[in-house]
Amino acid sequence: MLIRSKKAKHRKDTNLINYIDTTSMISEQYRTIRTKIQFSSIEKAYRTLIITSPGFGDGKTMTTANLGVVMAQQGKKILIVDADLRKPMMHYMFKTENTTGLTNVLIQQTSLQRAIRKTEIDQLDILPSGPIPLNPVELLSSGAMKEVMEQALEMYDVILFDSPPVNAVADTQILSNSCDGVVLVVNSGKTKKDKGLIALETLKSAKAKLIGVVLNKKKKR
Ligand SMILES: Nc1ncnc2c1ncn2[C@@H]1O[C@H](COP(=O)(O)OP(=O)(O)OP(=O)(O)O)[C@@H](O)[C@H]1O
Ligand SMILES: [Mg+2]
Repeated sequence: MLIRSKKAKHRKDTNLINYIDTTSMISEQYRTIRTKIQFSSIEKAYRTLIITSPGFGDGKTMTTANLGVVMAQQGKKILIVDADLRKPMMHYMFKTENTTGLTNVLIQQTSLQRAIRKTEIDQLDILPSGPIPLNPVELLSSGAMKEVMEQALEMYDVILFDSPPVNAVADTQILSNSCDGVVLVVNSGKTKKDKGLIALETLKSAKAKLIGVVLNKKKKR
């Protein structure tokens, strides 16, 4: 799961990405995913990627965070956007505050620059969700969202979007249509085949470009 060293092993707070162990097997797995993404973008580099999954708790946030870390370790400037406006968690992952974020930028309460937070990892910033809105679909499909993406692309090499489950709400369909690619996380031993197929159909009908599937498995504690 998290890219952590033995130093962090005994910490109760497992969501901290404080100690990076670049030699671990887990780290290596995320680097493999990174390489596969890069190799699949031969004609045009994928710069906006959305990470989603069929259901709740499949590992979307975990995958997004760790992909962000390994991409930043390669020297790329990475922004993770918490576009899960229903159950935002990315700020916990990186221990940043979430008083202002994406939703404030979308309703023009603040600028993108002011809402972005630095993380402890060089070259990796996050845009937390901001306060949970009543109308996530409207916000994510707005012209303001397009502007946020365009502005962010001027500042970063790659933007990773964390998202809600694609089978549950329309938010992910909307975003996946405007991203260069989609990474679908499936929960090994948990995601049912029919749910996986529904996710694929939904992404297809959104005209999203599916880059690949990550098979995630939570370690038993
Ligand atoms: N590969 C993994 N190894 C260990 N724990 C994991 C792994 N993937 C996910 N988890 C744990 O499982 C829980 C759910 O993961 P995560 O929050 O990433 O899922 P999610 O798909 O973003 O969930 P949600 O649909 O609620 O947004 C978290 O507590 C996370 O720490
Ligand atoms: Mg999540």
